[in-house]
Amino acid sequence: MKTVILAIESSCDDTSAAVLVDGKLCSNVTASQQVHEEYGGVVPELASRAHQQNIVPVVSTALQRAGVYKADISAIAFTRGPGLLGSLLVGTSFAKGFALSCDCKLIEVNHLQGHIMAHFVEPSADMVNAGYIKGLSESDLPLRHPQFPFLCLLVSGGNSQIVLVRSPYDMEIIGQTIDDAAGEAFDKCAKVLGLPYPGGPWIDRLAKEGNAKAFPFAKPNIAGYDYSFSGLKTSFLYTIRDMLRERGLASVEELCAVQPSLRADLCASLQQTVIEVLMKKLRKAAKDLGIDSVAVAGGVSANSGLRNAFLDYGKRYNAEVFIPPFAFTTDNAAMIAQAGYYKFLANDFCGLDVVPYAKTRI
Ligand code: KG4
Repeated sequence: MKTVILAIESSCDDTSAAVLVDGKLCSNVTASQQVHEEYGGVVPELASRAHQQNIVPVVSTALQRAGVYKADISAIAFTRGPGLLGSLLVGTSFAKGFALSCDCKLIEVNHLQGHIMAHFVEPSADMVNAGYIKGLSESDLPLRHPQFPFLCLLVSGGNSQIVLVRSPYDMEIIGQTIDDAAGEAFDKCAKVLGLPYPGGPWIDRLAKEGNAKAFPFAKPNIAGYDYSFSGLKTSFLYTIRDMLRERGLASVEELCAVQPSLRADLCASLQQTVIEVLMKKLRKAAKDLGIDSVAVAGGVSANSGLRNAFLDYGKRYNAEVFIPPFAFTTDNAAMIAQAGYYKFLANDFCGLDVVPYAKTRI
């Protein structure tokens, strides 16, 4: 009998469902929510309402694309947390109801572990050939997967961590941000520049045209493997404030009209600073622990500058580097399915009394 996992991810503003059959990804469908754009950030109440609207069509499309029926499902894996409670409640309640209706097992997954397990997703050739995973073709299969132990730089809108991954069941955070996450720094600075939400991809795009050395922003000096990005945010804000004062201007728009390359230069310098800070601590951890295999995960791993920095790291230190396909960087259910599959193999199931959590560690 085949092992069929239906996975559901609803921790923030993406409703996603995926189907994994005998360890192979057969579908991964995501509905992103545009409703937050005009507010410059995710509005929790709107997010949970949008999840309610999206979850049935998203799950039904995922099952259809995988050619799987309800009766075939062995277990339902869902993101239990961390995330927005209202959003998590939709996915958790749906998973429980669906598990009851098809009398199958239930598996709770930690969202952060899911991001790391994205490195072990193996898409089916059918799925890749159908064009469902941007940027991948059949010749890329099977994908390269990290060997244990490895270090994973987990960078998203809510987290910046270095995780020592000993196995799918044994992960330890050895460093993390003491204030803001890298993605949050990108998003907040983008907002200062008047860019849409989420700002990370916009900064990435603009940075390609800018001078990364134009602005020497403050870099944190934190002990151990921990990070801090709040000082960088302030440094970015004060740089703009000082330029406005010097030139007697009132807004970033006016400033950019006077100096057209400014926005791109600010983005390039900000991105370069974030990357240098992230890579320096990762290198220190890898050196201290004698680990020569490093991976990157989470939404910020979509950043082209960071991806290039990982490739450079591999060449410079003769290290094995693992960068996930774009489709598995931002929130997606494929990674939840993969983490759920490992739990299935370990007979690690949960009951219907399980409740979501907003905050937790790996
Ligand atoms: O992992 P994710 O989808 O959601 C969670 O936070 O859990 O990450 C979202 C974050 C946002 O801060 C977004 O701006 C950032 O990932 N992001 C990027 C890029 N794409 C997404 N940051 C920099 N460059 C990108 N290309």
